[in-house]
Amino acid sequence: MNTSDRELIATAQALVAPGKGILAMDESNATCARRFEKLGIPVTVERRRAYRELIITTPNLANFISGAILYDETIRQSSQAGIPFVNLLQTAGIIPGIKLDLGAKDLPGCPGEKVTEGLDGLGDRIAEYYQMGARFAKWRAVITISQSERDAIDTDIPSETCLVANAHALARYAALCQAGGLVPIVEPEVLIDGQHSIERCYEVTDRTLQAVFAQLRLNRVELDKMILKPSMVLAGEKCPIQASVEQVAAMTVQCLRDNVPASVPGIAFLSGGQSNEHATAHLNAIHTQFGSQCPWAVTFSYARAIQQPALDYWHGDDANIPAAQKRLYQRAKINGSASMGQYTPEMERSIAMV
Ligand code: 13P
Repeated sequence: MNTSDRELIATAQALVAPGKGILAMDESNATCARRFEKLGIPVTVERRRAYRELIITTPNLANFISGAILYDETIRQSSQAGIPFVNLLQTAGIIPGIKLDLGAKDLPGCPGEKVTEGLDGLGDRIAEYYQMGARFAKWRAVITISQSERDAIDTDIPSETCLVANAHALARYAALCQAGGLVPIVEPEVLIDGQHSIERCYEVTDRTLQAVFAQLRLNRVELDKMILKPSMVLAGEKCPIQASVEQVAAMTVQCLRDNVPASVPGIAFLSGGQSNEHATAHLNAIHTQFGSQCPWAVTFSYARAIQQPALDYWHGDDANIPAAQKRLYQRAKINGSASMGQYTPEMERSIAMV
């Protein structure tokens, strides 16, 4: 095995080390603007920088966070004291990562569906980010589920076109990452939007993962040097019948066992618009009830479900940084516990009282 293969395997394993998960702090400027505007925070480069500094300098975050995914603007920024964010992360023991996709765009011929762009020139961008210190990357594909069971028959969403186009792009990205020394996080997100049942989400997630692994093989991606970042199998947010925590855990594990080879070292879920509490409870139940059935490390790669309380507390005012960092640390810790099946609802109650 050559040095670069060894480095990829070591990075992949470090990202899913026991009790740790990945912090997704790679919101694009547009997404960050939406979150800031909701709280009346000025949408400026400097406020985004200040927010990211708050996250990165949270004391002892590395106890529960193995890697942090950065956005292009953020990986080039520094703290107020002039220390590059990448150096701060490395010193803290957190592996810097980079969002490589350029966003989901309308898929021609498939109304209502998206395909993720960013493959042109990707090899050169990977070389630059590697040189800047990134050691892993992410690419997010979004899969929409039609709004009702009837629509599904009428409109065929997700279409095979959408699944194959997105899976192909994910696999091309992953192969380029591995050639350039970055561990690819392969993120096919089946959106929670809509009123679909959990059974329909299962079926769509199953088809999505089949398409993704077929393309990963076709493009010669080495499965032991990547991380899968899937959505959990959930009922749509507008579905009147919401599944229990146990049912979500059972159906999610079943779907992953049917599709994800054991050679993949780790699965790190996105939170995808679930409440903070649900994202944590579902991860925990996967471990307590089905841990022995999972051949891969299973953890989190959350953005909203870790950051939202910190953003709410910070509110754009730097006087609130210590309180915000405390919230960030607490949600990282609670999810670290869930990633080992050691989370209890009392932990939520004790946080609420602080
Ligand atoms: P959420 O946890 O907010 O879904 O974000 C994860 C992510 O990285 C989306 O690409």
